[in-house]
Amino acid sequence: MTRDRDAGRDNADRAALTGLLADIRDRVLDAARLHPGHHVLDLGAGTGLLTHTAARAVAPTGSIIALDLSATALAQIRTDQATQIRPVVGDASHLPIATATIDRVVTRSVLIYLPDLPTALGEIARVLRPAGILSAFEPINARRHHNAHLDGLTANENEAIDGLRRHSSPAAGPMMAFDVAPLTTAALHAGFTAPTVHETTIIDRLTSHTQVDAYLHRRPHPGAHSPIDLITGHLGADTATRYTTAWHHALDQATDQAGITFTTPVLYLTSSLERRHTV
Ligand SMILES: C[S@@+](CC[C@H](N)C(=O)[O-])C[C@H]1O[C@@H](n2cnc3c(N)ncnc32)[C@H](O)[C@@H]1O
Repeated sequence: MTRDRDAGRDNADRAALTGLLADIRDRVLDAARLHPGHHVLDLGAGTGLLTHTAARAVAPTGSIIALDLSATALAQIRTDQATQIRPVVGDASHLPIATATIDRVVTRSVLIYLPDLPTALGEIARVLRPAGILSAFEPINARRHHNAHLDGLTANENEAIDGLRRHSSPAAGPMMAFDVAPLTTAALHAGFTAPTVHETTIIDRLTSHTQVDAYLHRRPHPGAHSPIDLITGHLGADTATRYTTAWHHALDQATDQAGITFTTPVLYLTSSLERRHTV
């Protein structure tokens, strides 16, 4: 999984990504206001980006459930008696966790994968204790864009390629359509207080032909096909070659040193669960 993310990146590119992920991790965990003794759910923990730092913040008496669909990813999480990390293979839409047992839910780039946000937010609300906090980071993919002008392909081909990329995996459709309003609406319906949403922008760039090739051959998310594999499989090798040429040409045409720029709006959401009133 980390291998996918790093595929084709050079050392500088990999270091920049590691730094960016560390910033995101720290911001998500700061907003969660973790304290020793907290019981935390790392939703879609993957290989443990949030898990290990969260475990240190809640030690020695707290605990972390690192939940993910992927046993392979969870196997990379370091566990020992002292850190109280419990890896759990499970689905965010049907949490195998007792009601009102969790103090904090932290998550990064997972809600975008979920086909039914109201169900997922309902599950998060169910497992949180009253006044428990959800802290999340997600890319707002519906508004992600790049400045590459791709020539040499017909309008029909461009449309077909866009369609293929939107269906590069079963999760790709909802993921590429992910936007803020459905998330905040689902949170409110689940019983969270008015969520605080901070939006910012992440810029990444392709500045060399090697990076262009790596981007075209990298799987954009686990379970997806790379753009070139998709195009070769559905539209043929000739179209894939012209698509590749169009990206390289776009890089050559980039008028400054910045290369091809991808702009991704992202959100940090924090919200606490309403205190439940007993009658
Ligand atoms: C982009 S990775 C992020 C992993 C980790 N949160 C991080 O920050 O590195 C998304 C993770 O969400 C997991 N995931 C996707 N859908 C899920 C679901 N329905 N239930 C639990 N995990 C899921 C994937 O297996 C993957 O590990």
